[in-house]
Amino acid sequence: MEIYVFVYLPGETIAVPAGLFNYNTDDKTGHFLYGRKYEQRPNAVPVDPVSLPLHKEALPTTINEGLYGVLRDSIPDYWGRMVFAAKRDIYPEQVSNIDLMLDSNGARIGNLDFRSSPDDPEPQLDLPHFSTLANIINAAVKIENNEKVSKEILDLYAQGSSMGGARPKCSVEHDEAMWLVKFPSKNDKANMPAIEYASMKLAKLCGIKSAEVLLQKVGTKDVLMVRRFDRQKRGNNWLRNGFMSALSFMQWDERDRDLWSYYSLAEQMRTYMSVEELKELYRRMVFNILINNTDDHPRNHGFLFDRDSYSLSPAYDILPEIKTAGVSTTSRLAMALGEAGREATIENALSSCRLFGWKSREQAMEECVRPMQQIFKDWSEFFESCGVSGEDIKMLESTIYKT
Ligand SMILES: Nc1ncnc2c1ncn2[C@@H]1O[C@H](COP(=O)(O)OP(=O)(O)OP(=O)(O)O)[C@@H](O)[C@H]1O
Ligand SMILES: [Mg+2]
Repeated sequence: MEIYVFVYLPGETIAVPAGLFNYNTDDKTGHFLYGRKYEQRPNAVPVDPVSLPLHKEALPTTINEGLYGVLRDSIPDYWGRMVFAAKRDIYPEQVSNIDLMLDSNGARIGNLDFRSSPDDPEPQLDLPHFSTLANIINAAVKIENNEKVSKEILDLYAQGSSMGGARPKCSVEHDEAMWLVKFPSKNDKANMPAIEYASMKLAKLCGIKSAEVLLQKVGTKDVLMVRRFDRQKRGNNWLRNGFMSALSFMQWDERDRDLWSYYSLAEQMRTYMSVEELKELYRRMVFNILINNTDDHPRNHGFLFDRDSYSLSPAYDILPEIKTAGVSTTSRLAMALGEAGREATIENALSSCRLFGWKSREQAMEECVRPMQQIFKDWSEFFESCGVSGEDIKMLESTIYKT
């Protein structure tokens, strides 16, 4: 099977063909080759700067079922699969990665597009407007429960459901920007959109470069809006940034959990970016300990890139995993952070601080950890001011760091 990979170059709103991706559906192997014309463009951007650098012949890949990192990042996970399946009246298990790649879509993350022919048109971008969210949220509940949803409502999702992740969500246009809207989910024990909003705001207060967020009421429910950092509006169209997850940056496989660690991520970041970025990663890691965000897997960290520069993307998907009251076990992050593996403790974070550019434990403590601990002292008042209910704050008391 042949798939034409298109790239939206910096400053341009129409994609150009970059090369051909050959996919063998039998043994799940993929092989991408750049087109010569693309590589000669002075402003060419690599499709995947780690596994597909320009001017180097790429090897076939079997990682993540034959998808090079950035290709894998460009297709949705669980939630997008559910919506795709609902639209076609099939089971989510019947949806292949290739179906998702070829689903014409202008809202997918990053700067890539996939077409079955070089002559296929630009995808139409028909994002739902914020005002239609109430209908979309009602449909999300039905999709989660595998209930039938009318075609009109599913059409409202149009291209809005192409982003990764498990939580029900949709991209919408609002206030001249593109936003990822995260809905409540049927399994929520608390008002998670409000809790995520407060956590993201708290991260900003702690000096972390986190994505811009809004909390909006839709009917009786709160939804979290996260401003898309890979899109900027240009006239009636959108400019895009290259995006890759930490999973792709490290060429890790989704099943290789034992390999995932913050310190090896930092080590590789050192060769591509400044030490300030390593310290920012460390700050995010420490914040995850303090807030008990144990879903900090390597697709919940990402990078923006262009032709020859990288930076951590704004932080996203930061929220506490609620602990059961009275059960005092040490949490574990999703990636190892220090000598004690994944143990989510400050001591463990300090054990590896030099690998993140700090000169000493004292420096990491004074410049990074202690100022955050100071801010966390007032987390409950802060959460309250962000719209989290007293009941939910009580539920979080044994979860979030206190001195
Ligand atoms: N502000 C943003 N701009 C652009 N892309 C984003 C933004 N926030 C998140 N993403 C992308 O969308 C994906 C899904 O978002 P997010 O991680 O918040 O959803 P989730 O359903 O909570 O995920 P998970 O399954 O990890 O819990 C992310 O993995 C990332 O690729
Ligand atoms: Mg996520």
